[in-house]
Formats: sequence, C-alpha cells, structure tokens
Amino acid sequence: MRAISQQLCALAVVLVGIHTATAKTEALLSSPGDTAIVPGWGLQSATRVDGDLSTLSKPGAQLDTWYSVSSRGTVMSGLIQNGVYKEEDIFYSNHMDNIGGQAVFEAPWIYRRELTLHPKSENYYTLKTHGITSKADIWVNGALVASREEQQGSYGGHAYDVTNHVRDGINCVLIQAYPTNYLRDFAMGFVDWNPYPADNGTGVWRNVELSQTGAVSMSPFRVITDFTQPGMADTVNVTLRTKLVNHASNPVNVIIKAKIHGPDGNEEGSITYKVKLEASEQKTASMEASIHNPQIWWPARWGPQPLYTIQAGIFTGNGEGELSDMSPLQEFGIRHVTSTVNQHNDTAFSVNGYSFQVLGAGYSSDMFMRFDEKRVEKMFQYVIDMGLNTVRLEGKQEHPELYTLADRMGIMVLAGWECCDKWEGWDYNPDADGVKWGKSDYPIARASMLHEAEMMQAHPSMLGFLVGSDYWPNDHATKIYLDALKEMDWRNPVIASASMRGFPEALGPSGMKMNGPYDWVPPNYWYGEDEGAAFGFGSELGAGVGTPEMESLRKFLSQHDIEQLWKEPNVGLYHMSSNVSSFHNRKIYDEGLFSRYGEPTSIDDYIIKCQMADYEATRAQFEAYSARQNASRPATGSIYWMLNSAWPNLHWQLFDHYLSPMGAYFGTKIGTREEHVAYDYENESVWLINHSLETEGDREIMIDLIDTNGNNISSAKAKTWTNSLSSKEVHGVRGIEKVKDVAFLRLVLYDGKENTIPLSRNVYWLSPKPDVLDWSNSTWYYTPVTTYADFSKLEHMAPAIVKASLQEIKATNGWASVEILLENESEVPAVFLRLHAVKSDGTEIAPILWSDNYVTLWSKEKMSLRASFEGDLQNIKVELSGRNLKKLAVNGMN
Ligand SMILES: *[C@@H]1O[C@H](CO)[C@@H](O)[C@H](O)[C@H]1NC(C)=O
Ligand SMILES: *[C@@H]1O[C@H](CO)[C@@H](O)[C@H](O)[C@H]1NC(C)=O
Ligand SMILES: *[C@@H]1O[C@H](CO)[C@@H](O)[C@H](O)[C@H]1NC(C)=O
Ligand SMILES: *[C@@H]1O[C@H](CO)[C@@H](O)[C@H](O)[C@H]1NC(C)=O
Ligand SMILES: *[C@@H]1O[C@H](CO)[C@@H](O)[C@H](O)[C@H]1NC(C)=O
Ligand SMILES: *[C@@H]1O[C@H](CO)[C@@H](O)[C@H](O)[C@H]1NC(C)=O
Ligand SMILES: *[C@@H]1O[C@H](CO)[C@@H](O)[C@H](O)[C@H]1NC(C)=O
Ligand SMILES: *[C@@H]1O[C@H](CO)[C@@H](O)[C@H](O)[C@H]1NC(C)=O
Ligand SMILES: *[C@@H]1O[C@H](CO)[C@@H](O)[C@H](O)[C@H]1NC(C)=O
Repeated sequence: MRAISQQLCALAVVLVGIHTATAKTEALLSSPGDTAIVPGWGLQSATRVDGDLSTLSKPGAQLDTWYSVSSRGTVMSGLIQNGVYKEEDIFYSNHMDNIGGQAVFEAPWIYRRELTLHPKSENYYTLKTHGITSKADIWVNGALVASREEQQGSYGGHAYDVTNHVRDGINCVLIQAYPTNYLRDFAMGFVDWNPYPADNGTGVWRNVELSQTGAVSMSPFRVITDFTQPGMADTVNVTLRTKLVNHASNPVNVIIKAKIHGPDGNEEGSITYKVKLEASEQKTASMEASIHNPQIWWPARWGPQPLYTIQAGIFTGNGEGELSDMSPLQEFGIRHVTSTVNQHNDTAFSVNGYSFQVLGAGYSSDMFMRFDEKRVEKMFQYVIDMGLNTVRLEGKQEHPELYTLADRMGIMVLAGWECCDKWEGWDYNPDADGVKWGKSDYPIARASMLHEAEMMQAHPSMLGFLVGSDYWPNDHATKIYLDALKEMDWRNPVIASASMRGFPEALGPSGMKMNGPYDWVPPNYWYGEDEGAAFGFGSELGAGVGTPEMESLRKFLSQHDIEQLWKEPNVGLYHMSSNVSSFHNRKIYDEGLFSRYGEPTSIDDYIIKCQMADYEATRAQFEAYSARQNASRPATGSIYWMLNSAWPNLHWQLFDHYLSPMGAYFGTKIGTREEHVAYDYENESVWLINHSLETEGDREIMIDLIDTNGNNISSAKAKTWTNSLSSKEVHGVRGIEKVKDVAFLRLVLYDGKENTIPLSRNVYWLSPKPDVLDWSNSTWYYTPVTTYADFSKLEHMAPAIVKASLQEIKATNGWASVEILLENESEVPAVFLRLHAVKSDGTEIAPILWSDNYVTLWSKEKMSLRASFEGDLQNIKVELSGRNLKKLAVNGMN
C-alpha cells in the first residue's frame, strides 16, 4: 500500500517534532495539596536517541525530532496523533498488517517532559503512576527514581518520593517504557478478539501525576456505608478511610477536616478528625459520618442515581494549622451490592436487597487504548437505550472517568482480570501460553490489585471484581488479591473466575458458566436445558452476531473483502476475530444463514439476511434469560459477548465501530424490555416478563399468527396479571404446524385499562420446521444444528406498499428528534422495515436512538417511530427499506 509505505519512511527518517518543553515557565505546582497531571510528553523510540538516559533526563536536551503527545497514550496512539498512521487507513481492509513486524516496536520508547517547579523547603513531592505498559524506568533530573523491576504492569500504580530530586526552575521527567509481550507481561491483550496493535499497547497509557504536600499526605477516600435496603433505617452511617503518610522524620499532629455534600448540593455532614503520626509513619485514618434521610442510588431502570460528594483537607499543627494535603473531590453513592452462590451453584446478585438479574455485555477498549470520554458516554447511552444494566470489563479497567459515567448513568460494572496471556499463566491452564508465574510476579499482582481497587472502591456502579476469567488464580495469588482488596475496603462481591473449571478454596465456586456459545446457534437454543441456555449465570455468551449495515461495511472493507464476505463463507476474514481464533471465518454462521434464509444473491441480500438472523439471535438470548428469571433454576445473568469492538469488526458487538446500531442492537433492545411478551420457541408459548420493582397489575395480551399473504392462522387474547421481577408462561400459540412456509407471530401487551398504546409489541417470523440442535455434539463454542428452520420464502414475498411520513422534527438543547409514521397499505405484512437517517450529504447520523427499528407491520397497521440524536436539524433525510420493500425516501415536512 502506497500510503502506508510513505508513512513508514516518515517514521524511519524521523519527523520534525513540535515539542518545546522549555516554553513552559509557569510552575506546575504551587502549594501543598496541589496535584497536577504531567500535561504531555515528547515521545521517541529508544533506537533513535543518542546518549545515556541520565543525561537525557536532565533539562535542556534537544528534542526537535521528537513527537509531541498527550498526557496519556500508548506508542501507537501517539504515532496516530502525530499523523504517522491514519486510523481510516490502518483500519481499512488488511492495511494493519503493513505496520507490524518492525524492530522499532521491539525496542523501548521514551516519554520525556520538562516542567517548571519552585520547590519549597518542608514540602514533599511525589510522582504518581497508574500503570505503564509493560514496565518502565523512571528518571527525574538525571536520577533513576524507579526501575523496571518496580514499575511493572499496565495496572501497577505507585507513588515515588521525588523530593530530593526536584529543583528550582526547569525539571525533567523521563520514562522509558519497555516493549510488551502479552504472554510475558501483565498487560492488556486482546486474546483472539482482533489483530494485535503493532506496539502491543506499550507506553504511558494512563496519566502520571506530580503532587506537592506538607509533611502528611492523604489518599482518596474509601467509602463504606451500613445501608442494606430501603426502609430499614432513616440514617445511614458512612465510614471514610484514607491512608496517611508522614513524609517527615519527626512526629506530626494533624487534623482532617472533611465535608459531605448531598446530591442537591446541601452540606450533609462535616468531620473533624485528629491524629498523630510518628516519624515516617503510614496509617489508615477511619472516620464516621451519619446521613439522615439518605437518597439511595439505583441501577437506571429501578430509580435515580443521587451522588454525594466528599472533600477533605489535612492540616498540620494545632488549631487552624497549615494545609498539608487535600483529597480530590470524590463522588459516592449509597447502595448495597451482594452476591450468593445459590443451591444450583449459580451466582445471583442483589442490589439494595432486590434480586438483580444481570443483562449485560462485554466492553472492549479501543485497539490503541485511546479513551474518549464522550465516545464512552455515547456507548453507555446505547447500553441504557438497549435496556442493558451491566458492562463487563475483562482486563480492560480503563480510567476513572468510565466509572464516574457508570455512576451517573446507573450502569453496573463487573470488572476483572483478563483471560489467557500472562494473567493466567497457571500450571493447570492447558489452554493458554502465558509464561507461568514466578516469584517476581506476585508483587506486580499485588500492586495492580491495590491500585485498581483504590480507583474503583467508592463507585456505586461496581457490581463485583473477577480475579480470574477462564481460569482461577492459584492460592498464593488469590491470597494476595484478597488481602489487597481487604486493605482497600472492597465492599462488593469478589468472584474467582468467569467459568466453572475450578476455584481456589478461599473463594469457592464462581457460580458463573462459560460454556459458550460464541458462534451461531438458533434462537431455540436459549430455551434449552444445556450449555449456555437460559439458566444460571452466563459470563460471556452469544450467537456470535453483530454484522454491521452496508453503510459501515463500506468504510472498512475493500470491494474484494465485500465479495469474500458473502461469497466465501469458509475463508478467514481480517475483520473477524484474529487468525489464531476459531472465529476467524463465518463458516458456522453462514451455514445457518444460507440454510435458513437461502443463499445470498448479492451483498445487499446477504446483509439483510444477516440483520434478520442477528436480530433473532440477540432477542432470543435476552428474552429466554428474562423469561426464566424466576424459574426453578433461575437465569441469574447473561453477558452478551460483546458490547463493542476494539476496531471495525464484523461480529461480537451490538453496535459497530462507527456507533451505528444494527439488527443485533434492536434484538437486544426488544429482548430486555422492562415489561414484555416473548415467544418461547421450544414450547410454542408466550411469556409475560416483568423486570420492574413495583407490584401487581392487570394485563392483556393479543396473540396473532398470520401467513406470508397476511391471512389469519390463529388469534387469541389472554387476560392475566403481572408481578414484579418475575416471568410466567401465559398462553400457548396454536396453528404453527398448519403453516405452509413462514408465519408471522405478533404479540402485543396492553395494561388492563382502556389503553391503546401497547406496553410491548413484538413480531417473530416462524417456520413449521424447527431448528434441531445436536446438544451432545456441542463444543466449547457452539452447538451444531442437524435440521434448520426454513425462511427462504421471505425473499419471494409479495412486495409491501408502505406509506411513510415525517410527522415532526424538534430540537432542544442540542438534541434533535424526529417522528415517523409508517402505515402498511398492502394486504401482505411489511417485513423487517428499517429506518435509516442520513445527513443531506448522505453520511449517516450516528449515534442515534430509535424508539424501535426493523419492525414488521401487519396489513393496514400503523406505527409511529421516534429517533433522537445530537445535532441540528437541517436537511435530514430518512430512508425506509425492508425485506419485501425497496428502499424509498420518507417524505414529509420540508
Ligand atoms: C506482542 O505479543 C505477542 C505475544 O502475545 C508476541 O508474540 C509479539 O512478538 C509481541 N509484539 C511485540 C512487538 O513485541
Ligand atoms: C451510626 O452511628 C451512630 C453515631 O456514631 C451510632 O449511634 C449508631 O448506632 C450507628 N448506627 C448503626 C446502624 O451502626
Ligand atoms: C456445587 O459445587 C460444589 C463444589 O464444587 C459441589 O460439591 C456440589 O455438588 C455442587 N452442587 C450442585 C448442585 O451442583
Ligand atoms: C496471522 O496474522 C498475523 C498478523 O496479521 C500475520 O503476521 C500472520 O502471518 C498470520 N498467520 C497466518 C497463518 O495467516
Ligand atoms: C415466577 O413468578 C410468577 C409470578 O409472576 C409465577 O407465576 C411463577 O410461578 C414463578 N415461577 C416459578 C418457577 O416459581
Ligand atoms: C411489573 O411490576 C408491576 C406489576 O406487576 C407493575 O407496576 C408494573 O407495571 C409491572 N410491569 C410489568 C412489565 O408487568
Ligand atoms: C384476523 O384477525 C384479526 C385480529 O385477531 C381480526 O381483527 C381480523 O378480523 C381477522 N381477519 C379475518 C379475515 O378473519
Ligand atoms: C409449555 O406450555 C404449556 C402451555 O402452553 C405449559 O402448560 C407447560 O408447562 C409448558 N412447558 C414447559 C416445559 O415450559
Ligand atoms: C455427532 O456428530 C457426528 C458427525 O458430525 C454424528 O455422526 C453423530 O451421530 C453425532 N452425535 C450425535 C449424538 O448426534
């Protein structure tokens, strides 16, 4: 590729940099209590730097050939920031392959920054790291303050006293980051998710901070409350703990003064706490406050997310004294999370005393560990919009901002270490090649656990921490993890692993199953009694779907890739899982797709079939888990594998890299509805599902089955009532066996009153010939099918005539919304109608929140759909297409 080789030349020749560190004359820190992020770096490969690091880490070195990068970022993210690589290019087709294999990524990289300081006597200076991949030497003004023996691991956070190294005027911090091998180092790998970034994530991926304090410094607070469930007490006691360090060589008396503010900004309490520290002593200070009439934090679907704040200063001497340090402004929530392993050995969570069924998905970092808070917020809006309540982070703990977003939005976070690689280098793990742990690895594990636990502790969004993934940690590592969690006052569940392969004595069984599927299975799979079917807690599972729509595919696939995608099901594809993976091709998926929906006749035909299959797949997974939430062996949780991808990907996601939703998204959105009616493919029956907290209500369900011409096959009305947090089978569906080819089933749920607006509406396409699963031939990643359902009739249906009109466009506060009315004017059903909004230049509007999409309308049926998105309103175009409808523009106002 021409573009790529030019970039490589540029990299080799050494770019003209713009980093001028000496320009900064303003002091980074001025008084005790100040903490500042090192605001950016010069970055260069160690292979292109002359001289020893001791000299280079003194102020005044010439850096005019260095890259200038932000305060945090891997080497690759820095090179992208400097235009050495362009994302649109390296994410296109297989262009990433052209970067790899360069010696420069097998050598260390240097991050260097000059800073102005005016150190004061009797003040102390600390350099804080939060993890550097894979390990680093840290120099300040010519002195080595930490070596790579100590500063190790992506999560190894440390505080280094640099008081004796800082000086008046210009100072220099230099970090030499060593290259990363996922099997050898405690890093953040992608296992088989996608190709690896060329630098394996090497670099200063998290901020480095400098702080100035008086004799005594304090850590962020850990927050513990005695709240267990609403209605138990009108006062909640809050315990606040902070680690104090006396940097001085004499005893010091200190006073901590803290204030708690409520969600409305009112002061809720204040604390004054006196303590004496001996020379060089470190100790934990523990203080209490009472909050009257506390406001309780809830997951989004169950209630609001009130957040309290705490801030404190620590003063030396008696009386008013001098400020020695300050804690950061911290938010915390009052809530209670527990988990138990029930009589079936399944983990079941509860939040605020209520049984909390996890409906979640697995989060991925960006391939280059770039963290864009706005982008994560948009992804979390999708999480909420889809009705999911949890994200699982497998070894991708990201930055504190992620947890703050989750706190504010009411999303639970299940964090934990990653599978495989170094993290699971155990003798009893035959599945992965991670280098086995030796003596020097345990301190890295301890530092990592301490650091992440401290970062996460106060966040109400934490649901738990998994100290293992595919495998459990050995007893020694388990003890280290548990001691570190205890030291950080961890108050949430700790789970041994995400699978049932084994467990350490100290933790007991994980209660989580990892029995697949990861590749395609038919919808009735989820109503089975085996493997990943809806019982217990599935920690990572799904039918391997998440095919992007055409508009997105064209952004990252070449014409040749597109041809391969629909014509060569057995061929490995660069944008599937990596080539070490069982999921590098779409063989299993395509065999199901071609057999059930018919061989594709074009890329467009392939994609609409994918969207239908993906929609069916995610809907059935979440519906089955919801239907069985209170079954005799309850379905306690399901984490869809995955929420999003590290780069443009063809599967394992619910929306794509460009934040466009697709079939898998709307299947999820329907499948998790708070009040819902779902079809049980195995038992040919209808379930009423309720995920809400309130109690009781009359309900009415309309059940209609029609054929592809729109003729009635059966219809029924069921009267029932609903209870909170439970599901029940309410009615059978008759007549499916009478169907010749394909039938459509419509389930509509009304409340028992005179309401015409349904609580839920849900349409299925069904075949009289069921999918038959070969359970006994299941593998770790799927269950084969011996006979497939037949939906081939769908592509030969009579065309539908649909009237679509834009009813309304509104804009408020930078958000726009549109309403579109659809009416099926034909006798036949209008199948799988997709609304797609584009700007006047034809580019997509994304992210976008549709009330519903990919809908199927009965003859003469009307439906109104809404979308909202950030931006202004001028010149929006909406397109409508469907299985039996050619693409048309939606007319209306304008
Ligand atoms: C990245 O890690 C893999 C092992 O997972 C290793 O084979 C590869 O050489 C590493 N790449 C670099 C540039 O070190
Ligand atoms: C809360 O703290 C107050 C005062 O410290 C104490 O009297 C009360 O017993 C505590 N409540 C609980 C439930 O521990
Ligand atoms: C639960 O797990 C324990 C420990 O592995 C085992 O002894 C017990 O038989 C299991 N119980 C069930 C119901 O599977
Ligand atoms: C797998 O992919 C890597 C990176 O893209 C490439 O270097 C390697 O040659 C590929 N291996 C095979 C067997 O295709
Ligand atoms: C689940 O709860 C519903 C009440 O909504 C009840 O009818 C049903 O029997 C329960 N299921 C089981 C297996 O207990
Ligand atoms: C669920 O909980 C109660 C009734 O059982 C009620 O207030 C709420 O509307 C119900 N929701 C559903 C989905 O039935
Ligand atoms: C088909 O069923 C619908 C809904 O139950 C009903 O309104 C309609 O009259 C039926 N049509 C025929 C032709 O029976
Ligand atoms: C299947 O559905 C019928 C009602 O249609 C119900 O009586 C029966 O209990 C269901 N069986 C199972 C295994 O869910
Ligand atoms: C498993 O699959 C093989 C062929 O792939 C077949 O011969 C065998 O009958 C299957 N086993 C069962 C129990 O269906």
